[in-house]
Amino acid sequence: MSVVASLMKALKDYDFKILLAMERLHLRYEYIPVDVLAKQLRKSAEILLEHLDKLHKLGFVGRRKQDYLGYTLRQYGRDALALKHFVNQGVLDAVGIKLSVGKEADVYDGLSPSGYRVAIKFHRVGRSSFKQTKRLRTYGEVTSWYRQSCIAAKREYEALETLYPLGVKVPKPIAYNRHAIIMDIIIGDPLYVITDLPDPQHVFYEIIENVKKAYQEASIIHADLSEFNVIVKPDFDILIIDWPQWIPKNHPRSFEYLKRDVVNLSRFFTRRFGLNVEVDKVLKDIRSES
Ligand SMILES: Nc1ncnc2c1ncn2[C@@H]1O[C@H](COP(=O)(O)OP(=O)(O)O)[C@@H](O)[C@H]1O
Ligand SMILES: [Mg+2]
Repeated sequence: MSVVASLMKALKDYDFKILLAMERLHLRYEYIPVDVLAKQLRKSAEILLEHLDKLHKLGFVGRRKQDYLGYTLRQYGRDALALKHFVNQGVLDAVGIKLSVGKEADVYDGLSPSGYRVAIKFHRVGRSSFKQTKRLRTYGEVTSWYRQSCIAAKREYEALETLYPLGVKVPKPIAYNRHAIIMDIIIGDPLYVITDLPDPQHVFYEIIENVKKAYQEASIIHADLSEFNVIVKPDFDILIIDWPQWIPKNHPRSFEYLKRDVVNLSRFFTRRFGLNVEVDKVLKDIRSES
């Protein structure tokens, strides 16, 4: 069981009420004064403090004692709110192990109420730059990272919702809330770890076919396509993942992004499998009306 899953088990309904109230009050406070929170929840500060103490020990909230006693939502607290939403919505029953710590996301294994395995992706925008600037961190940056993570989740979900019904090979979207999305779980390996492919040319053009379909039928360009964002299934079929940064075809720099996607992918196939790709021809094909 993952840390998040075991932590979730420790939370009671009242704890979620506290986390929800904190989320609302964050619009006004960096660290929410205990008396403000108590008033909002119509509970005595004494009872509230017992709960906050537990939430603090479990890592859901942060505490500050300077000037006044205040509490702030931490990452686990926000994750818990999204997970609770999914559970209430009836799309999630359990959270399992962490599948991957990506560049700007954590992905967990999960189970739907009807027993389907799903993937839960928590967006963590700014994490890669977070470590270097930790000491300079201010509340404003942290919340803006959180807000950007929410936008990233929304954008990625929108792309999947558009592309999946068209038959573009992407994971099936199931739900989205706050900074998280739920999608079908993919069994396979990211392309960058694969050293042996029976037919690399076929796989390359299969990816390109899907890039073309997204471009032609949905006017969507991935804009971060590389060997890290393609999953190869055991039967060598592919799925293109990680869409939060997609851009529309009518974006002023859309050709630049499309070209970069194709170049990234071609370079990888040339380097790893010795494939000879005429990038201009591929680009022309993607853009040609057929
Ligand atoms: N639907 C999914 N099913 C299984 N694993 C997934 C799924 N989506 C993502 N992953 C795993 O999580 C990793 C990171 O996901 P990704 O969407 O690329 O986010 P990022 O690169 O921004 O962290 C992927 O490389 C893959 O290993
Ligand atoms: Mg990725």
